[in-house]
Amino acid sequence: MEFNTPATTNPIDQLKVVGQPIHRIDGQLKTTGRAIYAYEWHDANVPYVYGYPVGASIAKGKIKSIEVTAAKRAPGVLSVVTTLDVGDLGKGRFNTAKLFGGDEIQHYHQAIAVVVAHSFEEARAAAALVKVDYEKQPGAFDLAAAMGSAVKPHESQEPDTAVGDFDGAFKSAPVTLDETYTTPDQSHSMMEPHASIALWEGDELTVWTSSQMIDWWRSDLATTLGIDKQKIHLMSPFVGGGFGGKLFLRADAVLAAFGAKAVGRPVKVALPRPFMANNTTHRPATRQRIRIGADRDGKITAIAHESWSGDLPGGGPETAVNQTRLLYAGANRMTAMRLATLDLPEGNAMRAPGEAPGLMALEIAIDEMAEKLGMDPIQFRIINDTQVDPEKPERPFSQRNLNGCLTLGAERFGWSQRPKIGSRREGNWLVGMGVAAAFRNNLVLPSGARVKLDREGVVTVETDMTDIGTGSYTIIAQTAAEMMGVGVDKVAVQLGDSRFPVSAGSGGQFGANSSTSGVYAACVKLREAVAGKLGFNSDDVVFENGQVRSGSHTVPLAEAAGDEGLVGEDTMNWGDLTKTHQQSTFGAHFVEVGVDVATGETRIRRMLAVCAAGRILNPITARSQVIGAMTMGAGGALSEELAVDTRHGFFVNHDLAGYEVPVHADIPHQEVIFMDEADPMSSPMKAKGVGELGLCGVSAAVANAIHNATGIRVRHYPITLDKLI
Ligand code: MOS
Repeated sequence: MEFNTPATTNPIDQLKVVGQPIHRIDGQLKTTGRAIYAYEWHDANVPYVYGYPVGASIAKGKIKSIEVTAAKRAPGVLSVVTTLDVGDLGKGRFNTAKLFGGDEIQHYHQAIAVVVAHSFEEARAAAALVKVDYEKQPGAFDLAAAMGSAVKPHESQEPDTAVGDFDGAFKSAPVTLDETYTTPDQSHSMMEPHASIALWEGDELTVWTSSQMIDWWRSDLATTLGIDKQKIHLMSPFVGGGFGGKLFLRADAVLAAFGAKAVGRPVKVALPRPFMANNTTHRPATRQRIRIGADRDGKITAIAHESWSGDLPGGGPETAVNQTRLLYAGANRMTAMRLATLDLPEGNAMRAPGEAPGLMALEIAIDEMAEKLGMDPIQFRIINDTQVDPEKPERPFSQRNLNGCLTLGAERFGWSQRPKIGSRREGNWLVGMGVAAAFRNNLVLPSGARVKLDREGVVTVETDMTDIGTGSYTIIAQTAAEMMGVGVDKVAVQLGDSRFPVSAGSGGQFGANSSTSGVYAACVKLREAVAGKLGFNSDDVVFENGQVRSGSHTVPLAEAAGDEGLVGEDTMNWGDLTKTHQQSTFGAHFVEVGVDVATGETRIRRMLAVCAAGRILNPITARSQVIGAMTMGAGGALSEELAVDTRHGFFVNHDLAGYEVPVHADIPHQEVIFMDEADPMSSPMKAKGVGELGLCGVSAAVANAIHNATGIRVRHYPITLDKLI
């Protein structure tokens, strides 16, 4: 199905099942430990052994030799496969750094060997015996020091933008701001580390892994191993979080495949937690300069956002200026990104890449401008709203209700009670409130599904879509139930298997809308098959209560399916609506903090998010996404930072003791309000993404609340105690 005209009334609009607050259909499996994650797959007939990775202990250079004699002689060891043994391997499409193969070291903890042994402990002990002789090369590890050498990224990727005359307008503006903000390197730190089990049967490879994007992984694994993609079977039915860290193939899958080949048995490899920071990808640090000029009434006349970030050779910039092209009006504007070469581990997508760090800067700048203007920061945002793309005024937003989010949020949060800066004290706590706008583009990807109807009247959905903790199983079941006129209990959902039709996968907050749209398209086909088989006129056919009806004829679905059953399969493809209309999601984040006057310790007391993100497919799973994202934003504001060792080129705090991630229990009160929307431009589902929107702007709202509480303006994240005393 091609989606290229605005959605009209369709079966999804019945909203008997879609939009209902249904608990996760996979919830019991998870809470009772019966959901099988990558490392847990087990079949008594194919006893597996364990692989343990060895990582490079230099950041840049070449391997001269690897000594494995002692490791091979260690108890329980079956094999040691080194990066020199396998030679140069192909690199897939999606990663910048090579995962394995050859003698070149591009970053610290790059995988250079896998030790396979009967037990995990034996493999780990032997891994410590592998000795490597390196030829070390100097590298660049410090973004601040590399700023001067930063260059324009590839034009086709990330062009500079300019509208009107920014310099002139900024110079003549009566009120101006010119500030620089920094965001640190951040780690996905998902709960389930990367893990894979590989099994070879002849030249066919099966891998149980933990992936957001089954088909991307399959392609990249095929390229890396130099085998035909069709020979690879990937499974990732349950994923313990990803946040972008599992978008692209990782070393555990490659090492497991080589290890399994070497020992002729299935091998399981998990990346140990201390490998995660340096072996995998991370959100790169940014340095962002923002200039805003406004007239005395608060109308923005000039706005500029420049961002510097670094990556390995061949990598790309963190696109932190994205939202500034679209969020506020202003006739004169420019954005630019500059990319420095750094030899740190690969920078890549982490939840809301671009907008998340971009809004951490922009939304402090907006708060600062409002203060300079003597305006309420909500009012300042409202008067600079735009209903069209400010760079292309002929291009409207499909829907945009930022102002509604700000206004409703202000009312519900009690914004009118916001204290004057530094004026509210409760015991040892200085208390303040902050606000920030949330913005994230609404991306879509083609998404396929197969839907089967059997003689019991059970509808089974098959798609390689993943559920990374987001609720995919549940919203897909709701979609199929709505379309086929059955209850959710009559729907079975099978996900995360490369034998199923290729879906959008989970990323970029495109998963929910794209994958359910693919299921919608497949259900349209299945409805046609049912109607066709019964000789029903497809114009008046109704699917309801487990039955299909046309005129005065009613047939139970089970009967319609017959013994052989019926199948519908299709892929949702996207036409031009994403080009003619700017599709984005909007929100407002409100935060109240207390800051201890003596220690500088910040405590978040309450948070509210108001989201305008199209139709909400399930308010329970959507809320869960948003409060998780708000918690992540609290971490971004207050604690999360990969500390760079700029001499040796690695992240020092490479575990969850040193890289501090908050949990819900750190925040006493979180609330989420969804605006009542359905966007006919977004898809037949009229839904959009919300999982990344929930993060965008949160950290700035915390920073702005701290400023309101203390009068201290911190522009460099994270806002640790030392910056407040
Ligand atoms: Mo998201 S960073 O596209 O998983």
